[in-house]
Amino acid sequence: MPRFQPFDLEHYQSRFEHTVEANLADSSVKCLDVGSWLEPEEKEALLASGLFYPQVNGLQRLRERIAALYPDTSSEEVLVTVGTAQANLLVVSTLLEPGDEIVAFTPGYRQVPGLAANLGCRVREVAMDPDRDWMPDWEAFEAQVTEGVRLVAVVNPNNPTGRIFRPDEMERIVAACRRVGAWLHADEVYQGTELDGSESTSFRGMYDRVVVTNSLSKAYGLAGLRIGWVVASPEMTQELWRRHEFQVIAAAGPSMVMADLALAPEKRAMLLERQRRLSREGHALLTHWLEEHPELFSVARREATAIAFVRYHLDAPSLEVAERIRTEANLLVAPGAFLGAEGHLRLTVGYEEARIRPALQRIASVVQGMA
Ligand SMILES: Cc1ncc(COP(=O)(O)O)c(C=O)c1O
Repeated sequence: MPRFQPFDLEHYQSRFEHTVEANLADSSVKCLDVGSWLEPEEKEALLASGLFYPQVNGLQRLRERIAALYPDTSSEEVLVTVGTAQANLLVVSTLLEPGDEIVAFTPGYRQVPGLAANLGCRVREVAMDPDRDWMPDWEAFEAQVTEGVRLVAVVNPNNPTGRIFRPDEMERIVAACRRVGAWLHADEVYQGTELDGSESTSFRGMYDRVVVTNSLSKAYGLAGLRIGWVVASPEMTQELWRRHEFQVIAAAGPSMVMADLALAPEKRAMLLERQRRLSREGHALLTHWLEEHPELFSVARREATAIAFVRYHLDAPSLEVAERIRTEANLLVAPGAFLGAEGHLRLTVGYEEARIRPALQRIASVVQGMA
């Protein structure tokens, strides 16, 4: 077994996010509370729901609502999980064995590569270029997907870059997987966060070896529910379900009841709209701030998410810059190094102006002081 490597990004966040004055290190918009988005009769339904073990693969109506979000998908192809985090763990623990090879893009959210490395798999990285709005090096990608690669892992839209794969790029990824018979894992947790209001296409249905994961955390602003899902073929869903019984038995019952309410069509539209408004307003503030400090910061084009992956114009490691910001400004941002790209800081802008504007000013003061 390889030596265990911790999940640096999540560890940094879990150490400090509840003690700093302002936390901009996460990747959601401001999340909702339990009561404000529920009608009186919905609250009644929630309070009346039982606390026996809930249906292990997920409440039937919730799985139907999730299935309806994908083309030609039935509730038998959906498994409800504890966030995308557990959905991704299920994918790794079902599809990979020690010694397997996987291909992943960098910078990126390091959960799947990290789980795979801790299992004893070899992770091949494909770089995305900040000077070309984070376009992946497609030739390198194709060269990495060789016979023997078991899994290609993508995050689309991407964390931390906010880039969305073009349709021809999605075809290219699928073709490479098909060429060698690799599984394709698409973490689509930022689907629904596109800044132009469109909805990015799912990889679901493009290839028979696709496993899609997603949740209510980002696009719906309901991270605390810890409800996610996997969509896969009926046979693969059964395989995932067997591991789910070992890992957690089932997701939390009251959370699944709320997830079902959140995915009712009208409520879903309202939640998506709220998230997009917070995100767009935050990105507008960020653009203004960048214009005020062109000597300190720059950002590549953003297409989705409430995240800005800001390049700072300093010769200092990102953990040192983040630590200066935390200790001098009482404010948490995520160091780019924990996402595979030095020289950057990741911050969410999906909060109200009263929180974002002063926080950005404080970040600029600290970085100015280091210049
Ligand atoms: C790409 C990606 N996948 C998964 C997760 C975990 O999300 P969830 O809250 O759905 O477990 C995150 C959270 O930041 C993420 O960015």
